[in-house]
Amino acid sequence: MVDDARPGDLLPWRDAMDRALYGPGGFFVSGPGPAGHFRTSVHASPAFAAAMLRLVEQVDAALGHPARLDVVDVGAGRGELLRALSAAVGVAGEPARSGRSGLIPPRTGSPATPTPPAAARPPAPSGPSSAGPVPPAPVALAHRVRLTAVEKAPRPADLPDGIDWLDEIPDGITGLLVATEWLDNVPLDVAVHTAEGWRYLLVDPATGAETVGDPVDPADADWLARWWPAPGAGADGIGPTGSGVRAARPAEGPILTARSGSGRPEPPTAARAEIGRTRDEAWADAVGHVDRGLALAVDYGHLRDDRPVDGSLTGYRGGRQVPPVPDGSRDVTAHVAVDSVASAGERVARCAYDLGSQREALRALGADGGRPPLSLAAGDPAGYVRALAAASAVAELTDPAGLGGHWWLRQPVGVDPERFMAR
Ligand SMILES: C[S@@+](CC[C@H](N)C(=O)[O-])C[C@H]1O[C@@H](n2cnc3c(N)ncnc32)[C@H](O)[C@@H]1O
Repeated sequence: MVDDARPGDLLPWRDAMDRALYGPGGFFVSGPGPAGHFRTSVHASPAFAAAMLRLVEQVDAALGHPARLDVVDVGAGRGELLRALSAAVGVAGEPARSGRSGLIPPRTGSPATPTPPAAARPPAPSGPSSAGPVPPAPVALAHRVRLTAVEKAPRPADLPDGIDWLDEIPDGITGLLVATEWLDNVPLDVAVHTAEGWRYLLVDPATGAETVGDPVDPADADWLARWWPAPGAGADGIGPTGSGVRAARPAEGPILTARSGSGRPEPPTAARAEIGRTRDEAWADAVGHVDRGLALAVDYGHLRDDRPVDGSLTGYRGGRQVPPVPDGSRDVTAHVAVDSVASAGERVARCAYDLGSQREALRALGADGGRPPLSLAAGDPAGYVRALAAASAVAELTDPAGLGGHWWLRQPVGVDPERFMAR
């Protein structure tokens, strides 16, 4: 719990979230960390880290195997992803784990399995031009990779020495910047649509009760006009004065859809909006720290034509979805306006981006999730069981109704973007 939340305080949601999550005693900077309260892709299956390792290899190849390859995890939790990558690559003297360890499924050509260095080279062209000198094999990833966690929480005592721990994104990244379920926890303001237009909602951090505040400022009004369509006439959010106060939305409350007199459902209209400008700025800043390579954001979110009616703000605590009371006792999160974030990143990267589902992205990285054919069971029972175990490890990550529905935003910087398209 944050120490200074008193009943009757009223704060903009952005300040309330910031204090509840990152202030003294805040949810993410004290206690067990995210993994103690909810599952992310990183926690769900080692197959996620295995796919990430393949992406690291792709980035390495696209950059021509630089002398130093950065992997920077922004919003790193307790360093779970980098621990898995560190073990898989064999950083700082750790033996690289083979697939049989159960942590990283084996894959031919991956540094997780011993392979001759030549396997990392592109195939030699055939014909007379192939007669020239063979280029030297790249130095193994373990000797070139630099793993850096960026986190507001303190460095865990048991984190391997080979992983750096910073509270700010470092400059001059050459490699991969990855942010899994970071942006949804970047604090934002919430607005309600009234007869006079959008106004901020204020929240009592101790109870979650909300009050209508001032009209949104010009920058937020611009963001809303571009990215979050206002409700049509007659949409009933909280009125301009309304009752003034209401409890924070229950996590699984009903979704209100306006209906026409004809009985035909009208397109949904949003009474509340989560103003994603802070996420756009955070992502643009992150992308700006990459000199060359790829910035990847993985998160749940929505597009302009499909914004959640009445917003998406909610809470998680102890494995359960709970009302989003910003008192420091729980996660407070809202889905990400991923198209707006992508556009902000593109302005910095000046390069085409790719936005698709985790399901597509993991499949493109070789994590399939499909069941092996039954015919395999007869011919190779042990192989069938192994393939079945590998498929179920991936299934949760690719389920379109769950983690597989998360967005992957790939933002290349200074490299050929074609190399990072999911297809
Ligand atoms: C939902 S957790 C995700 C953890 C991990 N990436 C995963 O996928 O399991 C979000 C994390 O982002 C961290 N975070 C949020 N804003 C941050 C910032 N500006 N700088 C560094 N860390 C931040 C939080 O402290 C929290 O640990």
